[in-house]
Amino acid sequence: MKRLLLMVALCGLAALGVGLALGHHPYQGWPPLPPTRPGADIAMVAHPPALVMTTLHKDCYNCHSDHPDLPWYGYVWPSSAQVQDDIHRAGARLNFSEWDQLSPEMSRIRMNQVCTMVSEDKMPIWYYKPFHPEAKVTKQQAAAICNWANQMPIALTTQSASR
Ligand code: HEC
Repeated sequence: MKRLLLMVALCGLAALGVGLALGHHPYQGWPPLPPTRPGADIAMVAHPPALVMTTLHKDCYNCHSDHPDLPWYGYVWPSSAQVQDDIHRAGARLNFSEWDQLSPEMSRIRMNQVCTMVSEDKMPIWYYKPFHPEAKVTKQQAAAICNWANQMPIALTTQSASR
């Protein structure tokens, strides 16, 4: 029995070793993601402050963008199925790579949702965190996101009415 446990543990370690050696790779799953349009990214469309942008990049782009950087377990079934499903579900809700699709109002609404999610520690999604201890949004980063969200234009109609 002890030997069996040892075997299982060794196999686990070996799999982990192979996985780590494989490193990170761009997404090549199915269905494929749309081609990247650099000009459509929130960075180009809305020009967030640097701290906001680096936070989104580091902690959110792996699911909420058209170019996630997948860890090794994103290629190993069954976790690959979960990772690909996450990316498609997350991207359908909120996609920082397709920010040009949003009106200014929607852009602000989305950023306010982002503010809520990071302030309440609800994103990145909980099961992602043990694998990515670095993906922790600090209070300072959350505050930067919320401040910026609150400075975004409210609605075009209110703006033009006040002119
Ligand atoms: C491991 C993948 C993953 C990461 C990383 C991740 N998310 Fe998500 N996110 C999801 C998934 C999956 C959903 C959809 C949940 C559902 O279907 O209810 C989601 C939903 C959301 C929503 C809700 C959108 C809506 O319309 O309801 C917001 C806002 C959000 N994420 C923000 C963030 C932010 C901000 C970050 C980075 C700090 C982040 N997410 C990181 C997977 C992720």
